[in-house]
Amino acid sequence: MRLFVAVELSNEMRGALIEAQNRMYDRGVRGNYTPEENLHLTLAFIGECPEALPVVDALSAVSFSAFPLALDGLGCFGDLWWSGMRPSPALDALARRVRRALAEQDIPYDRKRFSPHITLLRKAKGAVPPLRLQSAEMTVEAFALMRSDRGKSGMLYTPLARFPAEERFIN
Ligand code: 2AM
Repeated sequence: MRLFVAVELSNEMRGALIEAQNRMYDRGVRGNYTPEENLHLTLAFIGECPEALPVVDALSAVSFSAFPLALDGLGCFGDLWWSGMRPSPALDALARRVRRALAEQDIPYDRKRFSPHITLLRKAKGAVPPLRLQSAEMTVEAFALMRSDRGKSGMLYTPLARFPAEERFIN
């Protein structure tokens, strides 16, 4: 099975991202838009893995306190468009801890540098106009081990386990 570790997004954050996708579509940008239920922020990509249980055990060792997360403008890698995140040392620390926990248990993952983004559109066709994202903020109170399957009409992402923060974040 194909696995990755991600932050699931609040409804408010998904709403702001869907709104940006709608505006891109209205201005003629076509391509593979990420469906609302698939929007997520990847912390580590594991890829093909024979068993989930050792990964769940490894991730259970990660401790973190809840922290705020905010959207921060659109960007692209070639024809893949994403929303960036406001720079967050707490988010970087969580990704580092997740990756360290995997490495300590010899679970392979993609070692590419963590570059926090939420993919909105793949294989974009048409000029993407300058757009302002609606501001949206959420509190990260958990991260999840996700399974990725190719469904009949696109990717299906299923949370296999959720790992909650040890301390709540109080505004
Ligand atoms: P992307 O959105 O930039 O494609 C599930 O595929 C998630 O894992 C996506 O968020 C994807 O990022 C991310 N990911 C990171 N490295 C990947 C890789 N080598 N192959 C596929 N997905 C990867």
